Amino acid sequence: MIKKINSEQDSFLLQTDNTAYAFTIEPSGHPEHLYYGSKIDADALDELFALHQKREFEPGNVIVYSEEHNTTSLEDICLECSGEGHGDVREPFIVLVRADGSRTTDFRYKSYEITDLKPEFDSLPGSYSKDGKVEHLCLTLEEDGMILEVHYYVYPECDVITRSAKLINNSQEEIQLERLLSAQLDLPDHGWAVTAFHGAWAREMDKSTVIPDRGKYIIESRTGCSSNRANPFFMLHRPDTSEDIGAVYGFNLIYSGNHYACAQVSAFFKTRVVQGVNPAGFRCILEPGETFEAPEAVMTYSDYGFSGQSRNMHRFVKEHILRGEWGNKERPVLLNSWEASYFNISESNLVSLAKAGRDLGIELFVMDDGWFGDRNDDFRALGDWDCNPKKLPGGLSRLSKKVTDLGIGFGLWVEPEMVNVNSRLYEAHPDWAMAIPNKLHSEGRHQRILDLSNPEVSDWMIEKMSEVFSSGNITYVKWDMNRIFSDVYSPYLPPKRQGETAHRYMLGLYKVMKALTERFPHILFEGCASGGCRFDLGILCYFPQIWGSDNTDAVCRSHIQEGYSYGYPQCCIGAHVSACPNHQTLRSTPIETRFNIAAFGALGYELNANDMTSDDKEQTRLQITLYKVWRDVLQFGDFYRIRTGENHHQWIAVSEDKSRAVGLFMQELVQPDLQSHRFICKGLDPDRTYRFHNISGKVNIKLFGSLINTMTPIHVRQDGILHNMIARFVKMGGEVEDYTAKGSVLMGAGVALRQQFSGNGYNESVRLFPDFASRMYFIEAVE
Ligand code: GLA
Repeated sequence: MIKKINSEQDSFLLQTDNTAYAFTIEPSGHPEHLYYGSKIDADALDELFALHQKREFEPGNVIVYSEEHNTTSLEDICLECSGEGHGDVREPFIVLVRADGSRTTDFRYKSYEITDLKPEFDSLPGSYSKDGKVEHLCLTLEEDGMILEVHYYVYPECDVITRSAKLINNSQEEIQLERLLSAQLDLPDHGWAVTAFHGAWAREMDKSTVIPDRGKYIIESRTGCSSNRANPFFMLHRPDTSEDIGAVYGFNLIYSGNHYACAQVSAFFKTRVVQGVNPAGFRCILEPGETFEAPEAVMTYSDYGFSGQSRNMHRFVKEHILRGEWGNKERPVLLNSWEASYFNISESNLVSLAKAGRDLGIELFVMDDGWFGDRNDDFRALGDWDCNPKKLPGGLSRLSKKVTDLGIGFGLWVEPEMVNVNSRLYEAHPDWAMAIPNKLHSEGRHQRILDLSNPEVSDWMIEKMSEVFSSGNITYVKWDMNRIFSDVYSPYLPPKRQGETAHRYMLGLYKVMKALTERFPHILFEGCASGGCRFDLGILCYFPQIWGSDNTDAVCRSHIQEGYSYGYPQCCIGAHVSACPNHQTLRSTPIETRFNIAAFGALGYELNANDMTSDDKEQTRLQITLYKVWRDVLQFGDFYRIRTGENHHQWIAVSEDKSRAVGLFMQELVQPDLQSHRFICKGLDPDRTYRFHNISGKVNIKLFGSLINTMTPIHVRQDGILHNMIARFVKMGGEVEDYTAKGSVLMGAGVALRQQFSGNGYNESVRLFPDFASRMYFIEAVE
């Protein structure tokens, strides 16, 4: 709900179910931020007066705004959007240079408008509501004919408020916009911690916490994409905030390019948080009549710790970001060809792989890289999107028919934004690739970036991809993007507009994504950028899932997916089971754990299903069957982290009606002589009775190694013929956990699990839980 509080001073109160956000227009015309936190109410300005910063005399050594407002020092008040030049020496929200070279800005209040409409996006993606109605406040500020609109959108049930801004140059002069951010939150105190998610290829979403006690802490990407170096999602919280208790603000940006966020503690111990398009390398020319739109930033607040924050964000993403046919539909279990065969593909080996996948229960087969042009390695052919006739003599149409005739769907990999110099496309259109004329161009993965700021290129991409997506029975597309930007320069734009290139690239990309997702509404698109180099809300507005990381090692994945879980729901995280030793780490983990971790995402497989052992095949068949039964909870259930961090991961996903839940317990390294573990549930109904159980698996006797000799009358040589024979025919049962208890018990005390194997005895009630072991627990309400 948005309330305008009428008085001499216009004030605004934005309320969600559990939070509130308030600001007032100062007599000087500056919107002063008053409050953001748990819900408050007020009907008159007097009631908000308690929140006002009291000011009689300015602090020492500051700039006084004006003689008329001689107690206003812009450096020491909380503001909604600040410029530079009049004394606010903190991070500005907007920076521009006028024709005369001056840079001071002073946007002041002109008017406001409250509506319940949020237009569907045209150029930039944004949040939406299914009924088209979103509470909306537009604050209009003005300076010398330049209009700055600040838009607030309120999503009450998710406790989310989003913000975006638009600059309209209605003045008579050309201006150079150097920054226009999206969010600014000024808090009156300091001591807040920032938790952000940095990383690299195969090491995405590595959580770290910093308390910026003085000065600034910056989270940014200069890679041209939202990047694995720093995800745009981050949190601000009290240092003692835990998973369930304590104040947390969550921030994200609906944007896939260079982003910037800063938490700054000012000279007066106020904290300012800003977020938006990265000003580094950005300069946008606005001629009279031109406008610039900043992307939408997302803010949430919760008193219920990191988990509370996450559930707000998850709900927001599921209800107001993901859209289209696949937005909230259960995702199929897929098998991807990449780690099975890399570039070495042919129609016959693909069909045989698809068949082996189908026999395991897979619902969709995906042909990855290598199918087009003379793409036999990553040095060539990006851009040449016609089937390689030697590998696929019958083209996409025959291959897709053969696969779909098996009763499963067919999808493929593309990387349309890129070109290899060694390609027919580059030969025909060298000026379509970004490069600075007559300068060395540095490449990543031997490829260059097509200049999507050029409409000729974006139009070609739409048509070429439409041709590819129509040339067979294609129901899934993996859209990849495998290099970060360097030598950013658009051969299409004039020199003075080169500072717009990176942003215009994003607008071009969004135009292409919008056109293709509208033309092919039945296709499930999955975003990818060397794994998670572009995992953000901008992509998710078009593509409902993103490949979380090229790293499929279950141990690494437990950290990476836990990282994503702070800001993104499970349904949008692509997660695959792959072969062991793992191709990124050479680590071997049990098939049970590889499945258990991947199952807390959009499950897929990426291995040669023909080469699997019969034991692994049997387990996989059972696992996929189980996944299909619990998929709605695993992909869309409310997600709680129970234990996180170094050695143990415990998670639980709970259905919306709290009748079903799936828990995960994973251990990285076993600690000897520690036999008892508990699984403490979260999110259940305390008054309902539940059955808590596992699916007891078969134990391969080889797990015990030479310990087998303690049980056999004759000596068995480890890994010898006899050992393998016994392992083939003798299967021991795993531990059974099966309890019935009230939700209050399962959440209060939790379940004391079966004793962990500790080298001092074994029977079938002992939980064999070596390094990298894990279990899933199923919890069902019993009526
Ligand atoms: C990237 C992707 C992989 C795979 C390869 C193909 O690395 O992240 O999943 O598709 O490209 O070249």
